[in-house]
Amino acid sequence: MPMSSRDDIGVREYDATDAGATIDIFLRAIREVASKDYNPAQIDAWAKVDDPKVWAQWRASRPTWLAICETQPIGFADLKADGCLDMMFVHPDYQGKGVASLLLKTVETAASHQGHRRIFTEASLTARPFFERKGFIVLAAQTVEKRGQTPPNFRTEKMLA
Ligand SMILES: CC(C)(COP(=O)(O)OP(=O)(O)OC[C@H]1O[C@@H](n2cnc3c(N)ncnc32)[C@H](O)[C@@H]1OP(=O)(O)O)[C@@H](O)C(=O)NCCC(=O)NCCS
Repeated sequence: MPMSSRDDIGVREYDATDAGATIDIFLRAIREVASKDYNPAQIDAWAKVDDPKVWAQWRASRPTWLAICETQPIGFADLKADGCLDMMFVHPDYQGKGVASLLLKTVETAASHQGHRRIFTEASLTARPFFERKGFIVLAAQTVEKRGQTPPNFRTEKMLA
């Protein structure tokens, strides 16, 4: 399986047995990291996986990559067919170590290979500084309805070299 690495952190392609690990990272990253930027009601509405089977189908429906430390999944990101980077989540214990940078590099390489000239994402308040640091431009602030809450985020895009 293709793998890129940075010191002790590697990136590999997701497979179906990774579904539970991605759910855990998703929930913990929101509850323990994004919770500094959103109120408790917004966090409760966001940090939910209603049906793990549906989650697994979403993950399998598009390329998804896992960051791995030793054998432990510590982050994941994906790329939809239209060039949307839909998910970028890093385990709370591995924040600020370049994990998302490594995942983004993988996503950008894949997007270029697929012929995309740009990628775009809806960046959370928490992730906006990361994406701006990586060359994304904020197009607009918006609110997106999530289970009765309307947490703000930002439509952003990056032109690929
Ligand atoms: C946003 C997130 C994915 C960043 O992951 P990370 O692995 O900590 O990011 P990296 O360590 O690769 O950071 C890369 C660069 O972005 C900067 N950066 C990351 N988060 C930042 C923040 N909150 N404020 C300022 N700069 C930030 C880093 O300082 C680093 O800069 P450098 O290249 O000058 O060293 C992570 O914080 C996260 O999981 N957040 C919670 C979930 C979330 O909101 N996901 C996005 C949904 S759209």
